[in-house]
Amino acid sequence: MAAEMTESIDRTAATALMRIDGLVRRFGGLTAVNNVSFDVRPGEIVGLIGPNGAGKTTLFNIISGHMKSNTGSMVFDGHDVTNVRASQCARVGIGRTFQIVKPLTTLTVHENVMVGALLRNSFKVARDKAAAIVKRVGMGDLMHRPAGSLTLEARKRLELARALSVEPRILLLDEILSGLNTSEVNESVHLIRSLAKGDGLAVIMIEHILHAVMSLADRIVVLDYGVKIAEGLPEAVVREPKVIAAYLGSDEP
Ligand SMILES: Nc1ncnc2c1ncn2[C@@H]1O[C@H](COP(=O)(O)OP(=O)(O)OP(=O)(O)O)[C@@H](O)[C@H]1O
Ligand SMILES: [Mg+2]
Repeated sequence: MAAEMTESIDRTAATALMRIDGLVRRFGGLTAVNNVSFDVRPGEIVGLIGPNGAGKTTLFNIISGHMKSNTGSMVFDGHDVTNVRASQCARVGIGRTFQIVKPLTTLTVHENVMVGALLRNSFKVARDKAAAIVKRVGMGDLMHRPAGSLTLEARKRLELARALSVEPRILLLDEILSGLNTSEVNESVHLIRSLAKGDGLAVIMIEHILHAVMSLADRIVVLDYGVKIAEGLPEAVVREPKVIAAYLGSDEP
């Protein structure tokens, strides 16, 4: 009996929370995302890397319902979420940040986060949950500052807080470390790790800061010209000749 139970728990832990299968997105003659498939499990951090223009943000736009795919499917927690609207994606538990941050500039930090928290909660509960999230991302002292007055670094943190405000089960992070100094990167790395390993969120993170993504990710997926060219353990993936060639062919490290 005990052995059976252990086996069933193990199987549950290994089950994908999100399954992406054969996604394709074309813009005219350009195939920005070309037959991309991979899975993400609860508590897992997947790094999504690739040169500029590889299709990473486009893939996020599809997963979060901000853009439709031409073909392919997505299953989230056993439900088909292919091409469902962004609001519905947030409702089922898909949270994301935007590469180009866009807070509601006239609202305070707290109010920005409350907007998302109201999706699932009454006003009072949303107010308290939003305050807790603002503190968790280390912005307690900026709680009542208008978002328009924040530095880029603080806007990035607010972006993360807004993604968390919908109480996601999967978090899509689009370059939230870029532009941060070393200690800010370290703080964010610590926070992302605790969200995945402590709270059990699945995380897909697009990141150009390779040492950060290497230290965080359980697995790395590499895109190049829309195609998944590699997937596996961080140390193994960055040594693959195809991956090195993709990066050497671009302006990046
Ligand atoms: N709305 C759009 N209309 C037309 N082309 C687009 C659109 N969005 C993206 N593209 C093109 O699709 C390709 C992939 O872009 P995408 O932004 O997904 O790349 P990325 O991997 O996120 O790059 P970066 O690292 O620079 O952020 C690029 O060639 C881009 O110009
Ligand atoms: Mg991008």
